[in-house]
Amino acid sequence: MKPDRTKVILYNILFVAACTGIFLFLWNAPPETTARLPHDSNHERFMDMGKKEAEKYCNKCHAPDAIAPLPKDHPPKYRCLFCHKRDQEKM
Ligand code: HEC
Ligand code: HEC
Repeated sequence: MKPDRTKVILYNILFVAACTGIFLFLWNAPPETTARLPHDSNHERFMDMGKKEAEKYCNKCHAPDAIAPLPKDHPPKYRCLFCHKRDQEKM
């Protein structure tokens, strides 16, 4: 039996359409809005530190009973700097 050419072409078109759709979806994704690490005396020293190293210090001030507790609805907070980017890092 001959391969069904129309079907093959149709599947190819569908495949390209699906890829285009996924691409456009990612392209239009909203920009990241999570607050960046501030440039101030509290945070400046973390700018050039390794992420894991820096994250050891966050809790000193951002623990629930410290000077700058996290908001109540804060998302899971393992690895602060994956979400709160520093300036030199790309969005
Ligand atoms: C010495 C205390 C201290 C340490 C250590 C510290 N912070 Fe902060 N942080 C503060 C204070 C105080 C504020 C609130 C005042 C402000 O917005 O500057 C703040 C605010 C923030 C904000 C909110 C900025 C905004 O735009 O609202 C983020 C994000 C943040 N800190 C992340 C971190 C991360 C991540 C670490 C660990 C690498 C860290 N902080 C370590 C004291 C600290
Ligand atoms: C999964 C991503 C994620 C992680 C991990 C994370 N955060 Fe956040 N954080 C957010 C989001 C989202 C918000 C609220 C929206 C915003 O930042 O404007 C927020 C808010 C904050 C705020 C308040 C900012 C403001 O404008 O009031 C501080 C301070 C903060 N985070 C510190 C930390 C610290 C310290 C850690 C690590 C212990 C941490 N975050 C880990 C996503 C994250």
